[in-house]
Parts: sequence; structure tokens; C-alpha cells
Amino acid sequence: MDNSKRPTIANVYRGTFIHSTQQTALQILEDELLGVDTDGKIAFTGRGVELDRLSQTFGFSPNEVIQLAQHEFFMPGLVDTHIHACQYSYAGTALDMPLLQWLETYTFPVESHFKDLQFAHKVYSQVVKRTLRNGTTTACYFASLHTDASLLLGQIANNFGQRALVGKVCMDRNDSVKHYKETNQESQEETCRFIAELLKKKYPLVRPVVTPRFAVSCTEALLGQLGAIAKNNNLHIQSHISENLEEIKLVKEMFPDSESYTDVYLKHNLLTDKTVMAHGCYLSDEELVVFRETGASLAHCPNSNISMCSGMLNVRNVLNHNVKLGLGTDVAGGYSASMLDAVRRALDTSKVLTIQNPEYETLSFQEVFRLATLGGSQALSLDDQTGNFEVGKDFDALRVNVAAPGGPIDLLQGEDPKTILEKFLNLGDDRNIAEVFVAGRKVVPFTEPATE
Ligand code: GUN
Ligand code: FE
Repeated sequence: MDNSKRPTIANVYRGTFIHSTQQTALQILEDELLGVDTDGKIAFTGRGVELDRLSQTFGFSPNEVIQLAQHEFFMPGLVDTHIHACQYSYAGTALDMPLLQWLETYTFPVESHFKDLQFAHKVYSQVVKRTLRNGTTTACYFASLHTDASLLLGQIANNFGQRALVGKVCMDRNDSVKHYKETNQESQEETCRFIAELLKKKYPLVRPVVTPRFAVSCTEALLGQLGAIAKNNNLHIQSHISENLEEIKLVKEMFPDSESYTDVYLKHNLLTDKTVMAHGCYLSDEELVVFRETGASLAHCPNSNISMCSGMLNVRNVLNHNVKLGLGTDVAGGYSASMLDAVRRALDTSKVLTIQNPEYETLSFQEVFRLATLGGSQALSLDDQTGNFEVGKDFDALRVNVAAPGGPIDLLQGEDPKTILEKFLNLGDDRNIAEVFVAGRKVVPFTEPATE
């Protein structure tokens, strides 16, 4: 290799790597070498037996190679495509109501507290730490209406080294909790201020995302303005769609000129290849075609869908329509902030659909593993940067130790790597996640950031 083009290698790892590709849900690479350059990118991968050649080509010493232990493997970091950072304050509670009542009774009153920056700091630090520790290397966050608190979430994610999309929530319609809404002008101006100030920080891994809460809480005027803001600044967009039957009925009444829920967003230029919409439990095949054509994606949030008795997404049908799909925790509609829980609930939901209809082709754990990693990165249009161990992508990875002392998994019969992954997905927790890397930087275990 031409020395002038050669990346400087920061770290080389050797051991088992498990990831997904476009072609295969599960690729297991045993005794593999992976080199990370000083920019945190994957510089090379190769077989262990190629060590001498690779060390000469890339200019590293074989002595510096970090060898994984038996029962350890690397997998790509988990991608949470939908999580409400402010709702983490009541995660694990308030699971006894359907969506619209739940929003009025629990959510809006709690979110209105995030004008208090001290409270916001406390909750946002905890949610970033909790998700990172559980292997979420990329999170797509809803914050609250408050611009300064939303900027603080961006700062905290940056300080802890998490890759994040952060959205200041927009809503200029809310009849239930009077003080928790904005005027149309405020929503527009504060969104522009949020975007400008967050971009000005030049955080390498944190980006703003335009965030109309959902059609019900926005006027047509605001939806149109937010579509334009996203387009003019080439930004990501996130919202909710077709989560619960009562909500869908309300959207029909509120937007009588639109053919469908999807049409409401389409009309206002909110469906693009950088859009992620949560839920979509009740989307028709025609609506899924619109998703495919626009490149918009879905965040499947099975814990939330079950906890709030919202519905069950037919993931197989979404995949058959070639719509991009990732998994989300949807804290606090979903009670767990861990993407491992999202994996399990996605499998459970798929099995319930098979119980109801034996013709339904249940998702395999390999497929759900892909959704939680590569699928999520595609859903967020970040798959040029993360999602698997392709050379040129950032090294976002979990070092998993399935046999962690005191951990939840017992290995008893010389399990192979595929079985070890399956055990981790079904039985593992943060005790098994020995280290977390984002863009090559070790972010777990934490080294307390100097400033926040
Ligand atoms: N739809 C509008 N807002 C919300 C929210 O905060 N959580 C969920 N699950 N759905 C929503
Ligand atoms: Fe949500």
C-alpha cells in the first residue's frame, strides 16, 4: 500500500466477530483481525493467519494486537431508532392506559418539567449512561418542547460519546395540558434556533432531527413548515404514525382532506429517505408502498406496542415491502431502555402473530439481530457510518463476554459462537457488555467526562 494513503492504526483486535450484511443476517467470523484507525474507522479486516502480512501492510506490531478471550465476541453496537429521553424519568411505571390517555395523564405533565435545566441534566445524563451501558451506540432521541434542555441532551450525548440524533419536540396543538404546547411561531423559531445552535457545536456524532410529535399535536401549517425546514437543511425527520386505533380515528377527523395517516405526512414533505416514523402498526399495504417509494423507514417498538395495548406490527409484511425497519425502545411507552429487551419483545410479538396465524413466518433471532444493528442504521440513514464491521465504517461495537462472572448466563456444553450469540440476545444484560466502542473510542466503562 502507498504509505501516504495508509491509515494510522490505533488498535487491532483479534477474535470472534459477529455481524449482519445486506446478504446475510448472521455472519460469524472466527479468529478474525480488525484494525481501527486513529479516526475511529475500520481500516481493515482479515483472517488471524494473515497477521504478519496485515501488520506489514498497515504498519502495526503483532504484539499490540488485543486478543479476545474465549466466550468473548464483538458485535456491532445496538441502534435505538426511537426513544424519548425525557420519559426515562418515569420508565417502568404508568403502563395502565392506552396512548391518548397516557399522553394526557402522565407524559405531558412530566415533559413540561424539562424547562428546568437541572432536572433535565439529571435525567438526560442517566438515560445516556443507561443506554450506553446496555449497548446502544446510536440513539434517535425525542427530547421535549424546550430548546435549551434539548441542546443539553445533545451536549451530554457528545460528552459520553454516544452517536445521537436529537429532536426538540414540536407541538402547536394540545387541548389536554394547556401549558405544554407552543404557538406556531414559537415552534418554528425555536426549531430553527435548536438546529442552528446544535450544528454550531460541531459535535462529531450528534445531529439534530426535525421532530413534529405526531399529526394530532400539530397544525397543518406547522407540519408544512417543519417539512420545509428539514428540506432546506437536509435534515433527518422523526415522528409517530399509526400506533393506536383511537389515534388513527382522530387523525382522520382532524385531516379530512388526507387519504390516510401516511398521506398527512407525505403532503407536508415529511416522508423522505431521512425520515423515521415510530410504530406503523396499522399501515395499509398502500401506505407501505409510499414508505418504500419515499425511502422513509419504520421504528418497530414492540415493548411499547404491547405495554400500551396499541397493536402488533407485522414486521414480515413491512420487510416484504422493502421498507427500511429498525427497532426502538420507545421509553417510556416501552418500559425498558435496553435494546436487548426490544430484541426479545420483537421476537415475542412475531411469535404471537404466528400463534394467531400459523401461516405467519416467525422472525428468526438472526433477523432480529440484524434489525437491531444494521437495520437500525439503515432506518436512520446512517448505514454509511455504522451498523456492521465493513471497512470504512466507524467502529461502533460491543465487546460481549457471555461468561461474565456473576452474570446471567451459564455456559455448560461448549457452545459455538452462534449459540453464544443467541444466549446473549435472549439471556444477557449489561453485565455481559464488557466494553462499548463508538467511532473507535471506548465509551464503556465510563471515564467521567470533565465537563458536561
Ligand atoms: N405519540 C405521540 N407522542 C407519543 C409518545 O410520547 N409516545 C408514544 N409511544 N407515542 C406517541
Ligand atoms: Fe414514541
